[in-house]
Amino acid sequence: MPETFFTVWSNVFDRAGLKPQETLLVHGGGSGIGTTAIQLAHAFGAHVFTTVGSDEKCAFCLELGAKAAINYRSRDFVEVISRLTDGKGVNVILDIIGGDYFPRNLKCLSADGRLVQIALQNGVKSEINLLPVMLKRLTITGSTLRIRDTEFKTAIARQLKAKVWPLLEQGSIKPVIHSTFKLTEAGLAHALMESSRHTGKIILTVD
Ligand SMILES: NC(=O)c1ccc[n+]([C@@H]2O[C@H](COP(=O)([O-])OP(=O)(O)OC[C@H]3O[C@@H](n4cnc5c(N)ncnc54)[C@H](OP(=O)(O)O)[C@@H]3O)[C@@H](O)[C@H]2O)c1
Repeated sequence: MPETFFTVWSNVFDRAGLKPQETLLVHGGGSGIGTTAIQLAHAFGAHVFTTVGSDEKCAFCLELGAKAAINYRSRDFVEVISRLTDGKGVNVILDIIGGDYFPRNLKCLSADGRLVQIALQNGVKSEINLLPVMLKRLTITGSTLRIRDTEFKTAIARQLKAKVWPLLEQGSIKPVIHSTFKLTEAGLAHALMESSRHTGKIILTVD
């Protein structure tokens, strides 16, 4: 929960300033980060779109509260986002992919849009066309949680306790746990993770 809720809160709400009624595109909606971002943004009144690698994951993300889920293996998310937003683009993107997604993300952002980069599964280098950054007044930012100091993490914890923990207690949002393995079955857990069939988190238990 610290890895996902702290990361999503600090990047989507604090850093990118997502507001109710705004639109958010979450790449990798079936990931631990993605399932958390969809639920939180939906709970706080934003409209969430997401990309995933299978139709099963699309269906799951819709159940979590996404307004639309795009299978990136069969559809071009830039075209779909343009259609879903009447050509306006989304206000905020939470991206864990990077690489070739970067120029495509810029195309998907609305005027005054904000891109938050928190992982780089497709590579650390990208080419940038600076024109849309000027014309659409875009903000490109990102962060990593682990290197931040205790004071920063404590401040996030306080916000989460006040604003998000009540939702967890009510059961209106929940951490998504795909499966649980004993520590001695760690190999099976890794095989599942490499297959990318999982949605949400895979847990290892230590007796
Ligand atoms: N910056 C930070 O502070 C911070 C904090 C926590 C985590 N992270 C990073 O955030 C990422 C997600 O973490 P996690 O634990 O939630 O990982 P995870 O569950 O393993 O998620 C990885 C996801 O990426 C998806 N994916 C792969 N290629 C994709 C593509 N081209 N388009 C859209 N989705 C794609 C996979 O789903 P499909 O099967 O749908 O492809 C999978 O669900 C990791 O890279 C992690 O290191 C960063």
